[in-house]
Amino acid sequence: MSHEDFPTEHPAVVTCGLPYANGDLHIGHLRTYVGGDIYSRALKRLGQQTAFVCGSDMHGTPVAVNAAEEGVTPEEFALRHHEQYEDTFPKFDVDFDNYGHTDDATNTETTQEIVRTLEEEGYVYEKEIPVAYDPDADQWLPDRFVEGTCPYCGEHARGDECDEGCGRHLEPGEIEDPVSTVTGNPAEYRNREHKFFAVSDLQEYLGEFIDRLEGTSNAQNQPREWIEGELQDWCITRDMDWGIDYPGEDDLVLYVWVDAPIEYISSTKQYTDRVGADAFDWERAWREDGEVVHIIGRDIIQHHTVFWPAMLRASGYVEPRAVMASGFITLEGKGFSTSRNRAVWAEEYLDEGFRPDLLRYYLATNGGFQQDVDFSWARFRERVNNELVGTVGNFAYRSLLFAAREFGGTPDAALSADVRERIETAMAEFEAGVNDYSVRDVGDAAVRLAQFGNEYIQRNEPWKLGDDDPEKAQVIRDCVQLAKAVAVLFEPVTPEAAERLWADLNEDGDVHGVGLDAALDAPVATFEEPTELFEKIPEERVEELNEKLDARVEASAAADDADETAADGDVAADESDAAAAADLEPLADERIGFEDFQELDIRVGEIVAAEGIEGADKLAKLTVDIGLEERQIVAGIKQLHDVDSLPGTKIVVVANLEKAELFGVESNGMLLAAGDQADLLTTHGDAVPGTKIQ
Ligand code: MF3
Ligand code: ZN
Repeated sequence: MSHEDFPTEHPAVVTCGLPYANGDLHIGHLRTYVGGDIYSRALKRLGQQTAFVCGSDMHGTPVAVNAAEEGVTPEEFALRHHEQYEDTFPKFDVDFDNYGHTDDATNTETTQEIVRTLEEEGYVYEKEIPVAYDPDADQWLPDRFVEGTCPYCGEHARGDECDEGCGRHLEPGEIEDPVSTVTGNPAEYRNREHKFFAVSDLQEYLGEFIDRLEGTSNAQNQPREWIEGELQDWCITRDMDWGIDYPGEDDLVLYVWVDAPIEYISSTKQYTDRVGADAFDWERAWREDGEVVHIIGRDIIQHHTVFWPAMLRASGYVEPRAVMASGFITLEGKGFSTSRNRAVWAEEYLDEGFRPDLLRYYLATNGGFQQDVDFSWARFRERVNNELVGTVGNFAYRSLLFAAREFGGTPDAALSADVRERIETAMAEFEAGVNDYSVRDVGDAAVRLAQFGNEYIQRNEPWKLGDDDPEKAQVIRDCVQLAKAVAVLFEPVTPEAAERLWADLNEDGDVHGVGLDAALDAPVATFEEPTELFEKIPEERVEELNEKLDARVEASAAADDADETAADGDVAADESDAAAAADLEPLADERIGFEDFQELDIRVGEIVAAEGIEGADKLAKLTVDIGLEERQIVAGIKQLHDVDSLPGTKIVVVANLEKAELFGVESNGMLLAAGDQADLLTTHGDAVPGTKIQ
């Protein structure tokens, strides 16, 4: 079954993964929220009734561990961060229709109701399991209170997630060689009764669900292996005080991943309570025919494509229509590390005087949503100066200035057929971007239209035409329309600049509220000289910002040596700590002769197909075009790259390496990659596959 295209007649709910209320936001976190905001604005622009909801994730050990370190109650700790998030998102124009939190009355009620339904429907059972216990501290060790070895991939892992290895969710009792994070001592396993949700009963349903699921391809592909394999039931209780009480049990709370996604529903309920069911009916959306789109980081795909849809199904709610899972974000080529202060903090970005539009544009369009994106101040400047200032701002300014000076506003002429058609194309690209779940395509549609506008002006040279020449009025009339269309199409990405452009065009009200068709409505007849939409970033700023970042990282590394307790609080960037910490290997002492080097046959290759090798957590099988032939190459990059987006990537291959067999699959050559994160080497010009590298 495939879904009807947007806009549909049904209410849509767009959600963003709830941030744990346990740290400061940095621009890496903002990628998902900005993406969600753009997506919901674009849906609304298409005329789709939409609620954009989120909230803070207050419970669980990520909050409890950090609160304990600070010596405050989890409640006080989480509320403080919640208020901070509530304050920060709007500053980036991330305008949730409702932003709640998981510890409020609405969510407590909804959660307990759903759990009772799961019980009534026979999906919950009790089982005795081994649970990690710290005998010295005399306490149970749920989730992040215990660390050890992942039983699936052997990497170091936290109690409930293998965050440095295979990315799997781990059940209590699964982690090997458990160590207490409270005392640092080995933990022991003690048996204890817990509640389980019978996810395995829903295996067949989940198999069908995943086939229907839309969004980014990683969200559909990654969970397939789990769903088609042996599905484990899910322990939904924890031995903790902080959390939502398990109905009828005094000493158990619900696992944080039960009540967290339920906040998506609770937050929508609160929205309806505020605006009334006529404006948005949460019950219809969640119980009948809503179009639910979840926007998340790719580290929490399993929760959103297995546990959550299973819970929804078993308790009688609608299933998600789509999951958009974003890639990770690196900073100047290396991982973000909140504990090492190697990050660009959200507040810091604003304090530097940058408008949110610039970052929104960068985050949304610097790569596909599921690709990893690198942030660097140099690239930031380049994109702002070339695209926002050079293309969009420049076009709007020169058109409106010309129009205001020479015609006092919009010249009296009809829109030409070509330009109308070009605007219609842009509108279609925008709509296709929404239906393809691509915020990048949504943003690009507007920029390309402005680019067309610049070329159009350049080609027609209206400044050379005489005042009475009707062609002059025609060209400028077209340009004003193009500028108006850019305002309409670009508003989801750069809302502030779009509103300014709208005001410069002397249009009524906000561009925020208009439909896509407004792009073709006649512009207002009179307006004054415009303002500049964007400002260039001087090169010195980049140096200055990089120096600041370096100095901070150094200061924090020095402090770190003295004190090893820094806590992390990331949605999706914890994994990168390792990268940031990696000491560089010393240079090799021994030199090799040029002839030795020449023995290596290194070639440019292009990946033509890529798939994970079943059963091998890290390995992917690639088909690589090396000009003279195609090669099958096995590489340990399955978790480090989005395998589906690899085809088309140019890489560098050692073609004359001995053949090897990995996991029963022949590997005929080796690809070159840098470091633990397997940063793939590529070329930067047009070298075709097969070109020799020397
Ligand atoms: N707080 C979780 C995290 O940061 C995400 C929760 S998303 C929800 O990884 F689905 F549970 F809401
Ligand atoms: Zn693992």
